[in-house]
Amino acid sequence: MNGELEKIFGFYASGSSIFVRKDFLQSSYVPKELPYRDDLVKQLAQILAPSLRLEKPSNVFVYGKPGTGKTAVTLFVGSQLQKMAKDKNIPVRFIYVNAGLKKVADTEYRLYAHLCRMLGEFIPDTGIPTHTVFEKLIHLLESNPSIYLMALDEIDVLVNKSPEALYTLSRINSELKNSKVSIIGITNDFNIINTLDARTKSSLSEEELIFSPYDADQIYEILKERDSAFTPGVLGDSVIMLCAASAAKEHGDARRALELLRISAELAERETSMKVLKKHVQKAIGKLYSDKIISFVTTLPDHQKLVLQAIFDLDKPLSYTRDIYEKYVELSVKSGLKELTMRRVLDILGEFESSGVVRTSVISRGRYGRTKIVELITVDNIKEQIEKLLVTI
Ligand SMILES: Nc1ncnc2c1ncn2[C@@H]1O[C@H](COP(=O)(O)OP(=O)(O)OP(=O)(O)O)[C@@H](O)[C@H]1O
Ligand SMILES: [Mg+2]
Repeated sequence: MNGELEKIFGFYASGSSIFVRKDFLQSSYVPKELPYRDDLVKQLAQILAPSLRLEKPSNVFVYGKPGTGKTAVTLFVGSQLQKMAKDKNIPVRFIYVNAGLKKVADTEYRLYAHLCRMLGEFIPDTGIPTHTVFEKLIHLLESNPSIYLMALDEIDVLVNKSPEALYTLSRINSELKNSKVSIIGITNDFNIINTLDARTKSSLSEEELIFSPYDADQIYEILKERDSAFTPGVLGDSVIMLCAASAAKEHGDARRALELLRISAELAERETSMKVLKKHVQKAIGKLYSDKIISFVTTLPDHQKLVLQAIFDLDKPLSYTRDIYEKYVELSVKSGLKELTMRRVLDILGEFESSGVVRTSVISRGRYGRTKIVELITVDNIKEQIEKLLVTI
């Protein structure tokens, strides 16, 4: 057998594995300990606890950047409370809905149908008038008198796709006699609440919890807590530190840190190494970055694609915004699209910058004044893939 293959197959056949409990690294896994979130866990518990005395808790809005533990804390508190209620036979039900998942809450109908299903009644995907599904929901809530704690995760999706549903749910208690509903709205979009009408806004945010980003030391500890996912000895401290530092730069995102650790370990395993090394982390950082850019480019509207195409076509390490604009106008004409103004194109470049596709800086050109230059962040390994995506205008 070819030596290289023998090494690969031999490694797997020997039963060697970097992971012992890979599921500990999955995003659906809720750890028993949530370091640095004790205060928020306690605050949420205090807000929801009156339900155990059959009083309706205040509605709560939970905000924070991605990966700061909002979902984990809500599920943790909700499940503990549910457990206590069950043990003591108190009619409290914690219901968790992720509105960001496909087909859960993209229409009012779907959300009510989903809630009915969670309460035990099957509703088909279509075919019933929306108000009838809502009446069924009311009937289900009433026929099982309880305090319902309804966590609506990624509530921004609901605000954008079916604001009527949120409006109706925020007033649902006026339709109920035997039961009460409290809403826990969760989002990483700080501005979303301001797009709601004043009454819905104040009703939903009777209480607010803010999750701040983790710093590198905190992410380090969070990752350390998961080391039981790995065979002892495969993870060195410096590797954990590197993952933590990289995620701390990305607004303190614990999800990204865990992902980075998992991908690094998978890359090590693929190389039949029983140790995760810094080079594996570096490679994983590159991979995550490429994936992010590719999904960003895939969803770009046409004009944004043309602006990016213009930067590619100029093919320079640094380009002047004026040159990018000229190239962009040329490409727009070719594609039969009416070009946007320079102002809009500058905004688009700003969006590219916040998404990590380009870096911009202002330089002085002596007596010609100051000008902005744009630098494409290295995407050599995926340049071709991106260009393919761009030609689909
Ligand atoms: N304090 C913590 N201790 C242990 N694990 C944590 C902690 N905070 C977050 N995590 C883990 O990090 C990942 C991301 O957390 P979570 O899903 O709660 O983020 P989020 O704030 O809901 O983000 P998003 O806005 O993107 O939904 C999860 O796997 C979670 O278990
Ligand atoms: Mg979440």
